[in-house]
Amino acid sequence: MEVILVRDAAEGALTAARYFKSQIQKKPTSVLGLATGSTPIPLYRELIRMHREENLCFSGVTTFNLDEYFGIAPDHPGSYRFFMKQHLFDHVNLHPKHVHLPDGQTQNVESHCAEYEALIKKGGGIDLQVLGIGHDGHIGFNEPSSSLASRTRIKTLTQTTVNANQQFFRPGEQVPRHVLTMGIGTILDSRQCLLLAFGKAKASAIALAVEGPLTAKCPASALQLHPKTTAIIDHDAASLLALREYYREVQTNKPEWQRV
Ligand code: PGA
Repeated sequence: MEVILVRDAAEGALTAARYFKSQIQKKPTSVLGLATGSTPIPLYRELIRMHREENLCFSGVTTFNLDEYFGIAPDHPGSYRFFMKQHLFDHVNLHPKHVHLPDGQTQNVESHCAEYEALIKKGGGIDLQVLGIGHDGHIGFNEPSSSLASRTRIKTLTQTTVNANQQFFRPGEQVPRHVLTMGIGTILDSRQCLLLAFGKAKASAIALAVEGPLTAKCPASALQLHPKTTAIIDHDAASLLALREYYREVQTNKPEWQRV
């Protein structure tokens, strides 16, 4: 996969936002795959700025989020729908009907997950998918041992993920143990992926994902099979990569027509 090394999360967010802007300008009816967590927040902030100051228009855009907690209402402050409204949806001109997240309160998990897959297909497939990475190497909520061919379904979170996500819930409030998440197979169907990772805590997951063996122990390593994934990584998250100098060289010598 392509690796872009950036100074810090702020530069990473600007870089990722340029990919989004270029995608939307190229195809105003783009289908975007969105992620939650702390990593994409500065990216969304930059997209909002581009919307306000550079007329970046979301009116034709459709979005699909990677995942949602199971068993909590969409207006719960810990829900991913709430998160997305707060960090992006309420600030750009996305049509509410074009915005999709799995329904954490569905009565029929299996058919709802199949419908989510069908909706993505009907929308023409995801053009650009942004991904964070868990400390355990998860993408979406595909925890280690997830099938590398998986589709949208219900998953049980690991304790590591529950602990990492406690920050988004009130003290003493339980993080749901179950989630609905796009599968790794769903993610691999996207035409382009952007994997974002910033900070030391992500260094070992990134080393495995980018340079390690293809393994269900690190679900993000499945991106090695994807034909068009760009990892945007800061110095700390890149600190365990063996080929750092090579990635730098590739970036420096990237032909002008390939630059975003
Ligand atoms: P984070 O989570 O952005 O909050 O670090 C990433 C993830 O779990 O995918």
